[in-house]
Amino acid sequence: MNSKTNIKEPNGKLGILTPGMGAVSTTFMAGVIAANKGLGKPFGSISQMGKIRLGKRTEDRNPDIKDFVPLASMQDMVFGGWDIFYDNAYESALNAGVLEKDLLNSVKNELSEIKPMPAVFDHKFVKNINGENIKKEATKMDMAKALMADIKTFKEENNCDRVVMVWCASTEVYTQISDIHLSIDKFEKALEENHPGIAPSMIYAYAALKSGVPFANGAPNLTVDIPAIIELAKQLNVPIAGKDFKTGQTLMKTILGPGLKTRLIGINGWFSTNILGNRDGEVLDDADSFKTKEVSKLSVLDSILEPEKYPELYKDMYHKVRINYYPPKGDDKESWDNLDIFGWLGYKMQIKVNFLCKDSILAAPVVLDLAVFMDLAQRAGMKGIQEWLSFYFKSPQTKEGLQPIHDIFLQRIKFENTLRHLMGEELINYLGLDYYEED
Ligand SMILES: NC(=O)c1ccc[n+]([C@@H]2O[C@H](COP(=O)([O-])OP(=O)(O)OC[C@H]3O[C@@H](n4cnc5c(N)ncnc54)[C@H](O)[C@@H]3O)[C@@H](O)[C@H]2O)c1
Repeated sequence: MNSKTNIKEPNGKLGILTPGMGAVSTTFMAGVIAANKGLGKPFGSISQMGKIRLGKRTEDRNPDIKDFVPLASMQDMVFGGWDIFYDNAYESALNAGVLEKDLLNSVKNELSEIKPMPAVFDHKFVKNINGENIKKEATKMDMAKALMADIKTFKEENNCDRVVMVWCASTEVYTQISDIHLSIDKFEKALEENHPGIAPSMIYAYAALKSGVPFANGAPNLTVDIPAIIELAKQLNVPIAGKDFKTGQTLMKTILGPGLKTRLIGINGWFSTNILGNRDGEVLDDADSFKTKEVSKLSVLDSILEPEKYPELYKDMYHKVRINYYPPKGDDKESWDNLDIFGWLGYKMQIKVNFLCKDSILAAPVVLDLAVFMDLAQRAGMKGIQEWLSFYFKSPQTKEGLQPIHDIFLQRIKFENTLRHLMGEELINYLGLDYYEED
């Protein structure tokens, strides 16, 4: 048996701050407030509805995760955020058009109170939108300081015990790690010098870590993936995680992929296309923002299928991902996947998936769980990259030199074993040989 980790109790309020108060963020906030009023259930949230098996199967111990680990309660959450538009969370949720008007009206008072703080924004990083609610400080370091002041004020005004930050803002253009991102010193100098290579999302991440606030990245931008921020997280004992919420088509890919692979079904081609019409779709209509998303979406299959180990099955697979902005769809994304597969003696077959999903409905529970588990990580003294939360991301962040695990079922085992480890319970690998021993 492991020894139990010393975890601080989740007393008091948890502040959840989201850079970006668009469709995902407001669907999440409205959902928690509605669930707290008994108006709906947080389906899809493992922190709220998941169970975990403990001990041997014969013991029949399957507590709710929220009773097993000390987690912040939904009743103790308060919300805030930043956006380039002035709309409060109620107006923004109406505009996003994800949740029905009736439901939104029943949480209108609470949502209307959540007003976006002025954003750190740079049009060069998100080209297809423009807003007025932005900070005007002279340098990027001054912007970071202004964000730290926002966090402090939010925490005091809302009487929060702890705060976490989850990036729910637009996808930034594709950037690569350069010299200024390599160390804390270089990064801070670049902030002072207003270097163009520092993206707004990195400034939020820096401000969060400097304020002792865990940061989870829901978009595919680099943000917390740069060495300077990773080093800072370790140095300041703050958890970070990323990147890009795993929802929609990629969720389906990471469900189907491991299934086909485990039965050694070959794949010749996997073509994925989407149409979506929300603001996210508009931002991704820009080639540079799409590139960031494309890299994140394409990375998924390789590590699941391991073509280098199974060249006859997967080496020549043609994998294509397309995203098309189509306004009439709104947040109701539609995706099509065509899989050309082959089996016994190379005989060809096809699978077609047509997923009519609501992106923000799939993302909201992910935001909730990330906030809850990042807060747990912080209270348990876990610093730096939280790979056990890979389960929630399209491009899971791992320690340098490690291959990310994309298989959602392996990710789930790692996630559960981390919780068991924290609570001093036996780890479970599901491999017991039950003809020799009880598992
Ligand atoms: N919905 C999903 O299933 C899903 C899955 C994976 C990733 N994501 C990512 O999550 C993010 C949010 O998605 P969404 O559908 O809510 O998009 P959205 O366009 O509705 O909301 C994003 C908001 O961020 C704001 N914004 C942009 N730059 C900002 C900045 N620098 N500071 C503060 N606010 C800023 C925009 O004004 C907008 O209101 C996107 O990056 C998207 O790619 C979403």
